[in-house]
Amino acid sequence: MSETQPDIRKGLVGVVADVSAVSKVMPETNSLTYRGYAVQDLAEQCSFEEVAYLLWNGELPDAAQLAAFRAEEAANRGISPALHGVIQAFPHDAHPMDAIRTAVSFLGMEDPESADTAEPATRRKAMRLLAKIPTAIAAAHRAAKGLAPVEPDPKLGFAENFFHLVFGRVPQPEVVKAFDVSLILYAEHGFNASTFTARTVTSTGADLHGAITAGIAALKGPLHGGANEAVMHMLAEIGEPSKALDWLEGKFDHKALVMGFGHRVYKNGDSRVPTMTKYAEKMAEVVGDRRWMEMSRVLAGAMLERKNIHPNLDFPAGPAYHLMGFDIPLFTPIFVASRITGWAAHVIEQAADNRLIRPLSHYTGAAQREVPPIAQR
Ligand code: COA
Repeated sequence: MSETQPDIRKGLVGVVADVSAVSKVMPETNSLTYRGYAVQDLAEQCSFEEVAYLLWNGELPDAAQLAAFRAEEAANRGISPALHGVIQAFPHDAHPMDAIRTAVSFLGMEDPESADTAEPATRRKAMRLLAKIPTAIAAAHRAAKGLAPVEPDPKLGFAENFFHLVFGRVPQPEVVKAFDVSLILYAEHGFNASTFTARTVTSTGADLHGAITAGIAALKGPLHGGANEAVMHMLAEIGEPSKALDWLEGKFDHKALVMGFGHRVYKNGDSRVPTMTKYAEKMAEVVGDRRWMEMSRVLAGAMLERKNIHPNLDFPAGPAYHLMGFDIPLFTPIFVASRITGWAAHVIEQAADNRLIRPLSHYTGAAQREVPPIAQR
């Protein structure tokens, strides 16, 4: 007996799952606002810390509020000897996304307010995670290379401190600004897969660290955050601009995905790409290596002409991070260091007006039957 199939939106395409006041994605104008502010204006005029404050509080901070926010973040950067010990025990070939996912889960067990899901505790825990995630990412990265961890420096801003933790030094201001811009652009993006995952976990009444751990697991996938790493692997495989078109033809022949292109919501261009491309170009100038951006230009032009598919944020972010000196497996963890802000804003919003997220499935398996005795199976 076959039932008629209900209207299934595979991949939840086009489904509006809830209301949200955190950000607005507007595919009709290729634009994105955080709490009403255009993301490109925030990227040019604000620091990542100001944007984090905005996402969590709904308004930009004044000078005193920003100073207090920065001081609290800077004061919470240290991680425990126990977590350092766990990080030392990670397999050296572990992917840094698995390392940060495990570190965040561990931080949840150590957190003094771990099980407290009331909003004030969630906000304090979010601040601690924002501060500690870069320390854990960098410690794991350095441990995998046999290097000792670098202590966070509370005198440095968030972006500067990230470089200090990874490399033991802070680069010139243009590089720090380009990195800060990338953090702002990566901070928030509506009900994307990892944010929806974090909201789903929150909807069960589970705590912030659980929601963020799950969000990190979702972000790792190459169809989501993992694409920024895949883009750089792709550019490295192509090797030089003159080979880009032939390489792309080969992909078209096999109907293969070209990483860093396409988007579930934006079909005519990703609002964040022009700003990130501008800063990636600046990095190419600073480093004196135009190869990657030249190759990117060729690929983007051909993808648009042949497939009418535009690049997404991961496309310029990949080469930008490479030009800043980061190893490829750090690219998606950097996305985590930023997106913790958007995830936490959504966790707070979900918990404030919660209903368990529990969709239905349409059953297509075997019809109901008797359990046969074991001798007859
Ligand atoms: N390379 C080649 N073709 C692509 C493509 C890409 N990156 N992205 C989409 N397409 C094609 C699809 O194959 C499909 O073609 P078809 O109609 O002939 O089957 C068409 O464009 C529509 O794409 P669809 O699969 O419906 O898009 P989606 O909304 O389900 O998927 C992504 C969106 C982001 C998962 C998808 O574009 C993708 O995998 N991109 C590469 C990974 C990436 O960069 N992810 C980061 C996202 S921010």
